[in-house]
Amino acid sequence: MLRLRAPAKLNLYLRILGRRPDGYHELETLFERLDLADELAFEQMREGLHLTCDDPGLSCGEDNLALQAARLLQRACEVGRGAAIRLTKRIPIAAGLGGGSSDAATTLVGLNQLWNTGRSVSQLCELAAQVGSDVPFFLHQHPFAIGRGRGERCEVLTGPLPALWHVVVTPKTPLSTPEIYADWDAQKSALTQAAPSITMAVHALRNGPAMAGLAKGLYNDLEPAAIRRCPVIGDIRALLLEGACQGALTSGSGPSVFGLCQDRSHAEQVAHAIHRRGASRWTVHVVRTARDGE
Ligand code: C5P
Repeated sequence: MLRLRAPAKLNLYLRILGRRPDGYHELETLFERLDLADELAFEQMREGLHLTCDDPGLSCGEDNLALQAARLLQRACEVGRGAAIRLTKRIPIAAGLGGGSSDAATTLVGLNQLWNTGRSVSQLCELAAQVGSDVPFFLHQHPFAIGRGRGERCEVLTGPLPALWHVVVTPKTPLSTPEIYADWDAQKSALTQAAPSITMAVHALRNGPAMAGLAKGLYNDLEPAAIRRCPVIGDIRALLLEGACQGALTSGSGPSVFGLCQDRSHAEQVAHAIHRRGASRWTVHVVRTARDGE
């Protein structure tokens, strides 16, 4: 039995550069890998692919990205054998935290090992991009990367980078990514907000614990659309800032919102206060940047 972790992500920055002829959106995003993670266990089977999950809220059918990734690798490498995959879910579902994409990436890595198919990271990245735009990011072991194209072309950030502490608040209203992008398409002419550049966000990150700089670089073009569909996101942002987070932002297409905290004890303090305000309406996690390879 092979056991692997599948980490969550945040988007510290997400700027849409335009709509592409294939319907996707060209973007520039700054991914951060987190210590919050699902767990996957892989076991050889003579044939067939069988996925189970401890969370009854998640489909284990053909729409599950982990199963899609497994089928893709099996076909690409003409593998005759099968596998049983057991998923333990810790990352909130359809929350903007990349849980499904990360499970798919970890499935590619796990089955490549289990089946001895010998695919390199860049070969796995090609398969990953067919499963979803965010999947390739999770194949890189680095805590931070810039995503371009649909988000699938990743450039990892090397060199000394800080570990950040966050409070992540997830309203119990799953949001559909295609719907949020469609809302952005419909509304974009009304948007006037000037965006900071991704270079500024990366520069602030490289400057270490100067959180005020990083807070100014936080940006997400999808946030207004996510707030229109789930207005409580706006309330949570305000609560995070009230709790003295240096910045607060929706991750990806939402509805998760994160606050940028000074350290662990600040994050725990804010998490405690926010949990008290809305325990029945949202879930709260204290998270930090994943370590290299975590
Ligand atoms: O690539 P993925 O399957 O994760 O994308 C889900 C949906 O999100 C797409 O079908 C598309 O509607 C939208 N999307 C987009 N532009 C991107 C990424 C996702 O329009 N760069």
